[in-house]
Parts: sequence; C-alpha cells; structure tokens
Amino acid sequence: QPLVGLVGWRGMVGSVLMDRMQAEGDFGLIEPVFFSTSNAGGKAPAMARNETALKDANDIEALKKCDIVITCQGGDYTSEVFPKLRAAGWSGHWIDAASTLRMQDDAVIVLDPVNLPVIQNALAKGGKNWIGGNCTVSCMLMGVGALYKAGLVEWMTSMTYQAASGGGAQHMRELLTQFGTLNAEVRALLDDPKSAILEIDRKVLHRQQNLSAAETANFGAPLGGSLIPWIDKDLGDGMSKEEWKAGAETNKILGQGAGFGTAAVPVDGFCVRIGAMRCHSQALTFKLKKDVPVADIEALIAADNPWASVVPNTREATLKDLTPVAVTGTMNIPVGRIRKLAMGPEYVGAFTIGDQLLWGAAEPLRRMLRILLE
Ligand code: HSE
Repeated sequence: QPLVGLVGWRGMVGSVLMDRMQAEGDFGLIEPVFFSTSNAGGKAPAMARNETALKDANDIEALKKCDIVITCQGGDYTSEVFPKLRAAGWSGHWIDAASTLRMQDDAVIVLDPVNLPVIQNALAKGGKNWIGGNCTVSCMLMGVGALYKAGLVEWMTSMTYQAASGGGAQHMRELLTQFGTLNAEVRALLDDPKSAILEIDRKVLHRQQNLSAAETANFGAPLGGSLIPWIDKDLGDGMSKEEWKAGAETNKILGQGAGFGTAAVPVDGFCVRIGAMRCHSQALTFKLKKDVPVADIEALIAADNPWASVVPNTREATLKDLTPVAVTGTMNIPVGRIRKLAMGPEYVGAFTIGDQLLWGAAEPLRRMLRILLE
C-alpha cells in the first residue's frame, strides 16, 4: 500500500479531513504516516498501523519516503518545506489545502466533480502538485459549475456571505465570544418585555464600539451583530485577495484563461465576512450568452453532480433548505433563488451555500488521493 504522509491533521481542516477519510474507508487503502511540527515522537492517532510514532514534519528525509504527502498545515509550512522536498529529489504527489502553490503552472487546483478532465490531463503529463481551491470558489463551482461546463456563462458576479471558520478556529471563538458579550450587556433588558428596544440597541452599539483590541484581535473589527466587507489581503488596487481569487481560481479550475491559451470568463464581486459559523453563502448574478429557460438551468444544475441540488424558489423551501444552519456538516450544495432578473432574459440570479470545511477544504483533497490510488 502506498505510504501517505499526513501533515496538519490535528487542526480544523485537518480534523475534518481525518473524519471524512475514516467515513469513506480511505485508511484501508493506504499506509498512513502521521507527521507533526510540534510533537515528533509522540503517539500517532488510532488510524496509524505500522508507524505509530509521530514523525517530524520538517524532516525532509522522512517525508521523502512517502509516495504521497497530504498537508493541511498551512501556507507557511508549504513555503518552507515543499521547495526543500522537491530540491531533495522527491517526486511523490503533494496534495495541499494551502493557497501557496495554487496559481503555479505545474499545480492543478483540484475539484474533480468539476474538473476531472483537467486533473486527468495533468496526470497524463506527469503532474505531481494537487492543490485545494479557495473555499468560496470550490463551493460555488460545486453548485453552479454545470453552467460553466455548458459554456453558457458570459460573466458572473458573486456577492459572498462568508463564515467565521474561513479565518480559522480562533475566529469562530471570537465571533461567539462577541455574541455572548453583547447578549450579557442587555440581558436584563431583554428579560423585561416592556423595556425599550432603542435603549437595548444603544447599549449594544456602545458595547460593539468599545470592544477591546483583544476582543477583536482576529477579525480586526466587531463581527457579532455586524459584518466586514473585506476578506484577506489588500491588493492595493481596490480589490481584496479573496475577490481576486474568485476570477483567477474559477478560470484555472475550469482549465481556461491565460494559462490555457483561451479567454477567461470574467468573475468578480465583493467578499463579505458575516456572523455565520462554517458555511459560505453567495448571491450570484450571471449574464448568460443566451436566453435559457429557468427550468433548463435548474435541470443542468440538478444533474451535474450528486451533491448539488435545486431548492425551489419559494419562501418556504428557502427558509427550510437554503440557510447555513441547514447545510452545515453536510456535503450538500443547495442552489436556490434561481430566477430571471429585471435586466433582461440573459440575466439570472441564484443563491448557493456550502460547508467551507467540507467541499470548501477537506473533501477535494481526499478525493484527489482516491484518484491517485486508482
Ligand atoms: N479565504 C477563505 C475565507 C478561507 O477567509 O473565508 C478559505 O479559502
């Protein structure tokens, strides 16, 4: 069985990956070797069979023995270790959740229900670097990739509602702590049904505006009861890095655009952090190349892959099936609110949601492992 090195398996994305690998029986097909950046020599988790002690994740010689390395350790680790490993002559497969290598020419952004032909083409050419996409982009393409595959999209805007988990575990804690702080501030007034709502509102606002630096250390601004319309770095041209990824990664995943000698489909919009836990939601506007009936659009989306589904565009179905709470912890990618917009028959709106730790991070990695094991 192939020796598969696992790095960063204890963190949030890594833990979700371990759960999914266990649920799908992946460990029965590999000889896992668990690495650690901080606890080499410690005890590996129960899935380990022969290598029951943790190896040092910075030990190039130990990594070199692996046929495949899967890392959720983060971008700094990738930047530090990957070049050294390749320079040492390692020619194994590197499967990575971090964005570091994503846009390199010899890396494929893996999302096989959407781009299996791109993956297979790269494999045939000796590709070795398989990188998970940005969570928002992956969840979006799992939902509406069918419209791209059918060549129907002239352009698309995505307005996102991104969960705290996209920042990391500490961000989720910070959000919940802020909610608790704000609730505590007005609990007595809430308990009194006759209290004045504007007084409650004033007190909450005062507390939000006076959260300490420690209370907003991760997000840099209050998020509980508010939102933050900027995610990731400032690229200096008015665009956030998260917004740049939407266009760059969507096209690269689909195997189109500059690097492929074809025209890129413009994809752009605003990325916004909201107080959801781990589901990224997005309102999409498409300009299609032609007038396609809504029923045909729905049929394309529903037939594309086993996880995407169409939520009927009614209030009742939306409240039941198209919320982060309904989707969290599942592999489902519902697409709802599908309707023609007032701008004209080629303009279509849709709303989609995905668990950013599952399809947004862990799942494409373990599916790439399966492709390599075939
Ligand atoms: N950049 C994403 C976010 C995380 O902050 O929500 C996953 O790519």
